Amino acid sequence: MEKTIYFAGGCFWGTQHFFKQVEGVKDAICGYANGNTQNPKYEEVYTDTTGFAETVEVRYNPARISLEELTDLFFCIIDPLSLNRQGHDEGTRYRTGIYYKEEAERTEIQKVYAREEAKIGAPLVVELEPLRNFFPAEERHQDYLDKNPDGYCHLPFKAFRYVKLYQDAKLILADETDSVARMAELAALIHERMGFFWTGFYRVQGQQLVLGPFQGPSACLRIGYGKGVCGTAWKENRTLVVPDVEEFPGHIACSSLSKSEIVVPVRENGAVTAVLDIDSTEFATFDATDALWLEKIVEIGK
Ligand code: SME
Repeated sequence: MEKTIYFAGGCFWGTQHFFKQVEGVKDAICGYANGNTQNPKYEEVYTDTTGFAETVEVRYNPARISLEELTDLFFCIIDPLSLNRQGHDEGTRYRTGIYYKEEAERTEIQKVYAREEAKIGAPLVVELEPLRNFFPAEERHQDYLDKNPDGYCHLPFKAFRYVKLYQDAKLILADETDSVARMAELAALIHERMGFFWTGFYRVQGQQLVLGPFQGPSACLRIGYGKGVCGTAWKENRTLVVPDVEEFPGHIACSSLSKSEIVVPVRENGAVTAVLDIDSTEFATFDATDALWLEKIVEIGK
């Protein structure tokens, strides 16, 4: 069985490439949706007068991925508060939207909207409308990033690797409840797929963080509450992105090779029970994209 949903997420080159990485998606096609003419050419849509939005038709197997999961992934690659602009691309053709064929799908999608809106605390500007029309784009726009691996993309390239990692981790951890086994598996998966220098967990034990499953060189065994990047992320109960560890007051140098770092809290009913710590030998390796996906990854199965 196959179902179809339409995502407008800014420049369709990146949106198409992203959904092509998604397990359960059979095909993704660049096109123009919900405009006022027939069979538009790219040059016409580009004038921003046709009403069309650059849109990706996503054909998926609902037995492998739900519409809710797909919508959830879509929200990982858009700025839902930005009207008619995604990345550097501006114009109504780059507006965000989800266009559906069946009314029942709207209800499913609205669940994700409600969650996102509650999380962000502001109204989303992502359209949610029935599909009025869709015309596939010209061949040169199809699979653009496969044909041009260094081509323009408004999305960060690491999002394409993170989505695969996220889905695989979800599958592997589906039935595992032991927290050490979960941490060990996640540390290995993240480390291997993303090629980081050090990837591991510190677990909360009383007033300290104690070294847990990790991949990479030998590391400090214990970190106090509020100490270093890890202890601060625990204390402040939030993700910390550190572009230059030398600039972080109290940073604990387990290795002199480490130049930048990200620490993501792992929570159980809101309370921090561990932190995921990742180090890089380059400056400024981590940003909001890493934070977004790593936060999702540590939440898997919770
Ligand atoms: N740099 C960390 C300590 C842990 S190691 O990076 C593995 C910190 O300042 O908390």
